[in-house]
Amino acid sequence: MSPPETHADPGDRAHADHIVVHRSPALVGEVVVPGAKNSVLKLMAATLLADGEHVLTNVPDIADVAIMSDLLAAIGVDTAMTAPHELTLRNDGDLTPVAPYHLVERIRASINVLGPLLGRFGHVRLSLPGGDDFGSRPIDMHLRGLEAMGATITIEHGDVEAHADRLLGADITFEFPSVGATENILMAAVHAKGTTVIDNAAREPEIGDLCAMLSAMGADIEGAGSSTLTVHGVEPGTLRPVRHHTVADRVQAATYAAAVAVTGGELLLRGARAEHMEVLLRRFAEMGLDIVAQHDGITVRAGGRLRSIDVATLPYPGIATDYKPLIVTMLSVADGVGIVTENLYPGRFRYVEELQRLGADISTDGHHAVVRGRHALSGAPVRAPDIRAGAALVVAGLAAEGATTISGVHHIDRGYDDLVGRLAAVGARIERRQAAGGSSA
Ligand code: EPU
Repeated sequence: MSPPETHADPGDRAHADHIVVHRSPALVGEVVVPGAKNSVLKLMAATLLADGEHVLTNVPDIADVAIMSDLLAAIGVDTAMTAPHELTLRNDGDLTPVAPYHLVERIRASINVLGPLLGRFGHVRLSLPGGDDFGSRPIDMHLRGLEAMGATITIEHGDVEAHADRLLGADITFEFPSVGATENILMAAVHAKGTTVIDNAAREPEIGDLCAMLSAMGADIEGAGSSTLTVHGVEPGTLRPVRHHTVADRVQAATYAAAVAVTGGELLLRGARAEHMEVLLRRFAEMGLDIVAQHDGITVRAGGRLRSIDVATLPYPGIATDYKPLIVTMLSVADGVGIVTENLYPGRFRYVEELQRLGADISTDGHHAVVRGRHALSGAPVRAPDIRAGAALVVAGLAAEGATTISGVHHIDRGYDDLVGRLAAVGARIERRQAAGGSSA
């Protein structure tokens, strides 16, 4: 096979970059919403299930795609960007089912190679993924699900080793609808002998996207989009490579909605799927946004002061934990008091201290935050602690007097395709200052 492509990790270059945001006028225009990080990374893992050339379109230009490409290259998949937002992945079946620590520790989604590799090759060794800045992220449900399908799993020296001559269909009921565990068991079940039923499966649109791609490859899946997924295993070697369009990113879409919410104005979020964001859009409307679903996007109009609401994060179709930093930011400048409850990651309030540096009035108690809205925030240097909190700090900067300088930009680059350029194009006063001294909008 040809030597694997290597990708320079934009994250390495971005460690010392800064984003500088000034209080911005009403945002007006159109933002094209890129494909979803939390879909494309799983679609990339799914290509391990069939030899040949797969093409993914609407691929966001983000660091995590480059890191996942490096992981797949280590396993034996050639990847190349063959057109803007088009990623071609080729494998000739000569794969090494090993995911080493230096790659796994960089990207949580590397866990998604476990199910497809085990189902196809009967063994896999994967370094255990670590936690995140917002808390520990165990994989017990992934492993118990694979064991129920007949896998033998050992954990030694920081590696998970899984073996199974052939996985067997099983009835698996998750105690919690884990996104990653649902995806892993789904991809393992595709090649299992017999039928696997996953109950209390996660229902996120990104899982629907994965089901659509797997079905196009020849997998036999019923119940896509519901909390019960039934997978009738097919013989290894029968799946075919496909061309697949990545679903639009609901969290990036929500970020631009939050941006226009704090500045006022009107944005068309082209490509955003209102049906994937129903509960969030309803809550945004309660806060005072005027939201209209279009045939190819969502129009969000804001004027006047936002109204506070109470919000609790929940698995889909509830309010996603990934939206929460944006909501806390909006509440920071809304009229009234809002209580935000985090039900997925108890530690995911660390960015609150950064918002407080911008003058936000927020107090936290366990997994609750009480946000008292202020008329305006005041710019300051802040640090992005993770992807979503980083984007929320950018949004906060749009509503802050003076300059807000955000470091830790490499976190934002993991999940946002040109956040700065997209915001600048609709009127935000924002620029990226590169470490070497250059600057770009
Ligand atoms: N959990 C367990 N055991 C498991 C699996 C999960 O206890 O075996 C717990 C986790 O610790 C966490 C909760 O269940 O408290 C949710 O975990 P889940 O498995 O649903 O999430 P994930 O697959 O690890 C994905 C996204 C996250 C997003 C969550 C929830 C990817 C790559 N990541 O993570 O996205 O927050 O679902 O919607 O898809 C992000 O994009 O910034 C991000 C963190």
